[in-house]
Amino acid sequence: MSSQTDSRRREAAWQTVERQRARLAKASLRALFAADSKRFARFSLTYDGLFLDYSKNRIDGKAIAALLRLARAADVAGWRKRLFAGDLVNATEGRAALHTALRDPASRAKEAAAARATLARVRAFADQARRKGRFTHVVHIGIGGSLLGPKLACQALAPETNGIEARFLSNVDGADFARAVRGLDPVKTLFVVVSKTFTTEETLANARAARDWIAGRLGQAAVARHFAAVTAAPDRAEAFGIPRAAIFEFWDWVGGRFSLWSAVGLTCAVAFGPDRFAQMLAGAHALDRHFRAAPLGRNLPVLLALLDVWNGNVLGHRARAVIPYDSRLALLPEYLQQLEMESNGKSVTREGLAVGRATAPVVVGAPGTDAQHTFFQMLHQGPDPVPAEFVVAVSGARRAQDRGEPGPGPKTQRAILLAHLLAQGEALMRGRNAAEARAAMRAEGLSAADIRRLLPHRVFPGNRPSTTILLRRLDPYHLGLLLALYEHKTFVLGVLWDVNSFDQWGVELGKKLAGGTARLLKDGKAGAHDSSTAGLARKIRAWSTP
Ligand code: F6P
Repeated sequence: MSSQTDSRRREAAWQTVERQRARLAKASLRALFAADSKRFARFSLTYDGLFLDYSKNRIDGKAIAALLRLARAADVAGWRKRLFAGDLVNATEGRAALHTALRDPASRAKEAAAARATLARVRAFADQARRKGRFTHVVHIGIGGSLLGPKLACQALAPETNGIEARFLSNVDGADFARAVRGLDPVKTLFVVVSKTFTTEETLANARAARDWIAGRLGQAAVARHFAAVTAAPDRAEAFGIPRAAIFEFWDWVGGRFSLWSAVGLTCAVAFGPDRFAQMLAGAHALDRHFRAAPLGRNLPVLLALLDVWNGNVLGHRARAVIPYDSRLALLPEYLQQLEMESNGKSVTREGLAVGRATAPVVVGAPGTDAQHTFFQMLHQGPDPVPAEFVVAVSGARRAQDRGEPGPGPKTQRAILLAHLLAQGEALMRGRNAAEARAAMRAEGLSAADIRRLLPHRVFPGNRPSTTILLRRLDPYHLGLLLALYEHKTFVLGVLWDVNSFDQWGVELGKKLAGGTARLLKDGKAGAHDSSTAGLARKIRAWSTP
């Protein structure tokens, strides 16, 4: 089929999806549930330890059928095949995106042999580093995709670490460096510098500060014993002073934001042990198998991607709130901001033409119940609905429960947490109409005048979409399932919008201009800068303490 025929077919499928809007834009979720006692069963799906409930979205069978037709017209199945086959799916950089080979013990991709050898070295290094209290702290230095995955994993699985605390340093800010090394014993501290290019200014500035910190306390010769590096540019890491034996390679076919499964996860292997790191890879691999084999209509990443298209492109909701009801997953929204917005925040197709539709909704989020006391007011009563995505680990942290902490105890707290999760989804969906609000105020004993005055404030429009993802429990395996789910969902969205999810040219310009603005701050010469940039630099110079 010619590419013109392909794009005509795709456009026709988009229009079929958009035509569903007229039927469902004003549909009432309450009515949809009332009309169909099987709605929950029809719009939910389990795979392994993951459960997806998408019944509280304003969809019906016809809308899903139209969305699946779009998935077929966009050739999701073909792109999925190309992804796993190691084709150059990242065409603007001429690269494959083979992160799935990193977690497939039986991968026959030619790249897999190198990946396996490096992971064996990661295991050996982590075992050594964990031996007999050699290190009490590992400080991971990196930024973006070279940090967010390991940081999320270490925070999510913190109760699983045995005595080694992982800290993370990304921002190029002296205050952040001071926080990262506060109270550390240099003798017991390992720094892991992660940078694919080993040229990222922020990471290198922090790595140099860490090198000075070690050298200043233990002498220059100690640097070699207290640093490891993970990079696709091993020569640069060696020139920095890190011995070859502590340099771990990753390759151009592993994108930064998909790299947790490579040696980039070294910090995880050191902090919570190589066995648990391997379990995380096994979870991700299990999800890969599901994504690869399940029909599109029973495929978790595909369904999640189609829901974003529905809520974003069809219903016009330009943001999505990700609310983990689990503090250990507090970093999930930030991780997804990079994964989804860096991957798909693009305006041109693979062919360089205008996409013509909105891509990459803004991801916001914070853990529940905290989020209920910050921005949920807007979710419930603001004029622009924001679909919510709740992510919940059903079983609590086993070790915390075992410890039998004082107070109400983790089990009691979890019961409260989960009750709030259910209540929020229900409240967003049901809302509270005028009659219900009046009845509630009458029950509170309010006067007729007060009821009249307060009524508009106490009505909830409801009918606000939410999706819930349950994990059976939060352990390395289930975290692997969850993160691979989001990786593939992001890829499918890229296919639906016809954008390349694996490049990130949009981060280039600011990096380039920073050289000129650094000079401007130093010498104050405005040169070709606009009056605002030059004026700000003048003010900063004037207010800087010498
Ligand atoms: O944010 C842009 C980016 O290129 C990310 O894609 C990448 O993960 C990050 O910077 C860090 O780059 P590097 O690993 O080369 O230091």
